[in-house]
Amino acid sequence: MRYGLFIASIFSSSVLFAQKSLVGPGKAIDPFHYTTVKTISGSKAAVASAHPLASKVGTAILQQGGNAFDAAIATQLALAVVYPAAGNIGGGGFMLARRQNGTLVALDYREKAPAAATRDMYLDASGNAQTTLSQNGHRASGVPGTVAGLFATAKYGKLPFAQLIQPAIELALHGFAITEREARSLNYTRDAFLQYNTQPIAFVKNTPWKAGDTLIQTELAATLTRIRDNGMKGFYEGTTAQLIAAEMQRGNGLITTNDLKQYQAKERTPVQFNYRGYTIIGFPPPSSGGILLAQMLKMVAPYPLAQYGFQSVRATQLMTEAERRAYADRAQHMGDPDYWKVPSNTLMSDAYLKQRMADYSPDHATPSSAIKAGLVKESDETTHLSVIDAAGNMVTVTTTLNGGYGCRTVVGGAGFFMNNEMDDFSIKPGVPNMYGAVGGEANAIAPGKRMLSSMTPTLVLQNKQPFMVTGTPGGTTIPTSIFQTIVNVIDFKMNATDAVNQPKFHHQWLPDEIDVEKAFPDSVRTSLTNMGYTIKELDGIGRVELICIKHKNGKIILDVAADGRGDDDAEGF
Ligand code: GLY
Repeated sequence: MRYGLFIASIFSSSVLFAQKSLVGPGKAIDPFHYTTVKTISGSKAAVASAHPLASKVGTAILQQGGNAFDAAIATQLALAVVYPAAGNIGGGGFMLARRQNGTLVALDYREKAPAAATRDMYLDASGNAQTTLSQNGHRASGVPGTVAGLFATAKYGKLPFAQLIQPAIELALHGFAITEREARSLNYTRDAFLQYNTQPIAFVKNTPWKAGDTLIQTELAATLTRIRDNGMKGFYEGTTAQLIAAEMQRGNGLITTNDLKQYQAKERTPVQFNYRGYTIIGFPPPSSGGILLAQMLKMVAPYPLAQYGFQSVRATQLMTEAERRAYADRAQHMGDPDYWKVPSNTLMSDAYLKQRMADYSPDHATPSSAIKAGLVKESDETTHLSVIDAAGNMVTVTTTLNGGYGCRTVVGGAGFFMNNEMDDFSIKPGVPNMYGAVGGEANAIAPGKRMLSSMTPTLVLQNKQPFMVTGTPGGTTIPTSIFQTIVNVIDFKMNATDAVNQPKFHHQWLPDEIDVEKAFPDSVRTSLTNMGYTIKELDGIGRVELICIKHKNGKIILDVAADGRGDDDAEGF
């Protein structure tokens, strides 16, 4: 009897959520008529993410009494629908948070290699690396971690999961108007969609996509509903797991129902260090991001960057040399800490980093051939969201399919893209992955192992109080983008909008070149070329979401910027 009443109350509350829907024409969020907000100034709470509808969903959850964890969950789920190139349930990610009571949480829900994976699985009979297999189609996928990560995050939230997932279900079921950028991206990827899928998918239609077209994802809505109704098991067991395993079998992939059932998110201990009196909190391995950030910031800390000036030749050259040295260490020393002993303490120690910079010269480039690891390019199609709530909970999440739309294969009958994260392993020592990063033994493939990541969700404190919540997509450019964002705020005193949108540069040891954005000043390029650097222009580096927390006359001011390089959007109040 009591049990029956309990079921009835769950049923009526889910009906209630459906009735109180946030999303739909004439509702709080109209998915067919929305605007994009690039910067806001609030005083209580804010969300910045890669898509206006996702940021609006997260903000509505905050307004309904959810905390930053609830908002981060709802925003990620909405991104899985409205930003299918990178928002996902078929990928993985990292969530880093500081709770209002000061405790830190680092959740690792990175994908892992299936049990049947082997070290040389992407080598042909002659030992040649076959990157086409590690990057495309079924065999490129690791076991997805996102849904496990969302449920692990929910432990810190306040609202029922059903309430957090409902907006995503409605966006998938009834559709939303795609942006111009999304239309271009879907059209650009059409041939790959046809090549890597065996069933019809929602992302291919007979005529080209255009801005304002409605994208409906009925199968994804059904998958999200199974997750709403059955929790983790709605993804990792039962119908969804069977659909994933069947899809893998159709395309020679490795993931089985057993791999899915065994997947677990893990809590890790964040990286923490001091930079010019600020406390920086970063993500530890299997991300390389936190350690790289610590290395780069500590290598430049002895130098007066503010005095050198923003985009001065001196500052750019110094930061480039720090980036080069840190990335040489990434290639040699970093991997999944459950499989490889990462010498984190040494890599971040002041003595080690001082010695790393001993051969630094401000007058000329140090060739990468002269830089080895010390003793001891991935895609833009990762995505990031930053959240703060009125109680001071800070949540920063970076999540990814790796390449745009992952391996481009949609799970038949389940409606979501699988990742191509296996390419983030070092498939053969010294062979660059899709974004030019090299690695070795530390990041070799092994069953159950997590591939090394560059994702760098980051928090900054000033006097033990919230100061910055940030992160970005961009593959190997992620750590250098966050490095520059922090330096822009702390050393060059920029507001959030400038810190995010000023042109960036990137060096990752190999290839030995500085990548710069189009707007990077010509005069600095010329001076660096004269010092022996090779300069290459890239379309865009990073899409940073930044919340800066400022204090004025005893009041808090949130200075929030969503990157101008994409459809990114900032909301808050
Ligand atoms: N796939 C992007 C990263 O994890 O670094």
